Amino acid sequence: MAITYLLVFCLAATACSCQENKFPPWFLFGAASASYQIEGGWNAHDKGESTWDRLVHTNPAAIEDGSNGDVACDSYHLWMRDIEMAEELGLTLYRFSISWPRLLPTGYPNIISEDGKNYYNNLIDGLLEKGIEPLVTMYHFDLPQSLQDLGGWANPLIIDWYVDYARVVFSLYADRVKLWLTLNEPFGICDAGYNLQHAPYLNNTDFGRFMCNKNVMLAHAKTWRVYDEEYKPLYHGKVSLSTLFIWYEPATPEDQELTDLVIEHWEGRYVHPIFSKEGGWPPAIEKFLLEDGKKKGYPNPLLPPFTDEEKELVRGTYDFYGLNHYSSRLVRKAKPGEVFSWPYYGSPELGVVFENHPDWKQAALNWFALYPEGLLHQLRWLKKTYGVEEILITENGYMDSYKGTDDWERLGYIRDNLEQVQLALQEGINVTGYTHWTLMDNFEWTSGYTVNFGLYAVDFSDPNRTRTPRESAKYYSQVTRAHALLPLPPRDEA
Ligand code: BGC
Repeated sequence: MAITYLLVFCLAATACSCQENKFPPWFLFGAASASYQIEGGWNAHDKGESTWDRLVHTNPAAIEDGSNGDVACDSYHLWMRDIEMAEELGLTLYRFSISWPRLLPTGYPNIISEDGKNYYNNLIDGLLEKGIEPLVTMYHFDLPQSLQDLGGWANPLIIDWYVDYARVVFSLYADRVKLWLTLNEPFGICDAGYNLQHAPYLNNTDFGRFMCNKNVMLAHAKTWRVYDEEYKPLYHGKVSLSTLFIWYEPATPEDQELTDLVIEHWEGRYVHPIFSKEGGWPPAIEKFLLEDGKKKGYPNPLLPPFTDEEKELVRGTYDFYGLNHYSSRLVRKAKPGEVFSWPYYGSPELGVVFENHPDWKQAALNWFALYPEGLLHQLRWLKKTYGVEEILITENGYMDSYKGTDDWERLGYIRDNLEQVQLALQEGINVTGYTHWTLMDNFEWTSGYTVNFGLYAVDFSDPNRTRTPRESAKYYSQVTRAHALLPLPPRDEA
């Protein structure tokens, strides 16, 4: 009797201490990827050319190692192995993106590629067979070049071109896909795309990025409304977009006002119109840019105003918040004549510099600070500022240039960030899942293959693009199966 009692007590005690580190049963563990970064097959069958195809082929010098995504991880052929890896990792969520020009070779719905259609059908069905929920990004930076030739995201007609594309996507896959992201990081599309950092690799920071900014907001909103009215009643899915949020802190209390402006500028411009109660542009930055435009001698506002009708159209078009978070930065006023590049090292028009806190460690590049607490601050800020009731972490990951598999720093990064997610959950912030960026090393945009973020290492010199799990993958797979935050494993120094 006493022994039985002791046994029961011990079991209960173990369960109880485990319980503290447990994630809620509904919490999703995922990994993410994006079409251009992994698929390859850039001209397979009838696939159209994308802006990234055009950039890497006509201007290889724009890519750090002169490489391209023509083959990348060859997921166009190796998608079954990708699903197997998702299964090895114990994922319940896999985020991937659909390549618009693969599905619609002309950019328009006049031709739907059979090959493209089947590729994504196979991927979705394969994931579902393994019990893995697909989280589908409809646009992750690879625009049909045919549409770029007509002005791309700076042309207001793109709002309807995008909605037409989205309708095809929903009509093909909404019966099985329940979680959708219309756009990945509009900051990358607009601010980086019009500042020689991303395709279309244009240099038009005064106008292009702001015209793009308004058009992406409207394209997202109209698409959300199509789903909400036509597909939600049938399939009960959820639609949002994913936005990049670096956690910004003032270097000194005097820098608080500037920091708030930085947040509105780099982040609020893509979020406030959708998630704030009042809608529209964030007021302080709208005012700032109006004055800045006048100073530069432009008669019209740089940031195109929303009409009242447009404001209403965009406001509230979300079912959850999709957060991409990697790093944190300190904000301080630039010294007279100080030179720095943006967006990672400062914001020229605001006259501010971003730097690291002396206590924060840094990863491969010094803009990438290791400050896991920044994630909790960010989650609190989002809840407080926008009152969002559900946050899905759509990207979080560690960058290095190490090609081996003993990636202890990445492993530590995952543990430390998941710890912050648990703290957020304990505070009542409803984080419904964590999606690690990324499943495997891939084409890291203008950095080519010089840096990586993968749970799996990929041998890019091997025609089979062999994928090998790293230490981080092993750890993450234990976490997903235990559904709990696990301590760091003993480090094998051999
Ligand atoms: C993007 C990914 C990118 C990752 C790491 C995110 O901004 O969505 O495509 O690879 O960050 O830089």
